[in-house]
Amino acid sequence: MGLTGLFLCTFLVVHMIGNLQLFKNDQGLAFNLYAVLMTTNPFIKTVSYLLYLSIIGHAVQGIYLVFKNKQSRPVQYAVYDGKASSTWASRNMGLLGTILLVFVAVHLSDFWFEYKFGHVPYATYATNLENGDVKFMPAPPDYKQFNKLEETTMSTPEGQFKITIVKNLYLEVSEGFKSPWLVIFYLLSMCAVSFHLYHGFQSAFKSFGINHPKINGIVNFIGTWIFAIGIPAGFAAMPLYFFFK
Ligand code: HEM
Repeated sequence: MGLTGLFLCTFLVVHMIGNLQLFKNDQGLAFNLYAVLMTTNPFIKTVSYLLYLSIIGHAVQGIYLVFKNKQSRPVQYAVYDGKASSTWASRNMGLLGTILLVFVAVHLSDFWFEYKFGHVPYATYATNLENGDVKFMPAPPDYKQFNKLEETTMSTPEGQFKITIVKNLYLEVSEGFKSPWLVIFYLLSMCAVSFHLYHGFQSAFKSFGINHPKINGIVNFIGTWIFAIGIPAGFAAMPLYFFFK
């Protein structure tokens, strides 16, 4: 669980940093190009299969662990004060993980599935090669039959332009987060990510036998500030940005 958990933590760092392209003021060009890279680069594609296996492996092993835990003590303690020696997050990893599994299923069907198998429209961007200005226009619907990305350069009296025709995943994301229900669902899910990683990140190191006062300080620091606060806050900013934009 530690190994797949830390791999998933690494994915979250990359996913969050990549998604920061959403905040660029270029009508989605950088984000749409990033989505093409993520789904066509052979190395990234191979790592994605490892990611899907890790999500399944982590969930299955987690469910098994919760089940085994319950089986080892069928009769509960007469007096039990969990707070005395453990955090709320550590006692509710099964519940938090289940919330995350539901989140990932909804999230993948909204964006990933739509992008790969749905009807994401295309967009055309004309980038002025002299000043970098980007002009946006929707692409004609028949572009569906083309690749995810078409690029050419064009000379006009107004200057040289790079024409990019690309699947407009940015539109799906920005339109999706206009729904208050989806935004609330994402914010609650990011709270679950926060608590899950607050315990999970440092617990993975203990599972590997790395448990020394000298190292625990830095592990707890990274677990708290990067994984329990930075990553969920960065993700939560995305639905909030599009909702209030
Ligand atoms: C609110 C913030 C988020 C946004 C805007 C977002 C957006 C997206 C988009 C657009 C895709 C499909 C295209 C791509 O692969 O890049 C995607 C894929 C994915 N997302 Fe997210 N995501 C967010 C948060 C999360 C979180 C918190 C998790 C996990 C807990 C997650 C897990 C995944 C997974 C597993 C994939 C499939 C990746 C692949 O096929 O390689 N995402 N996300």
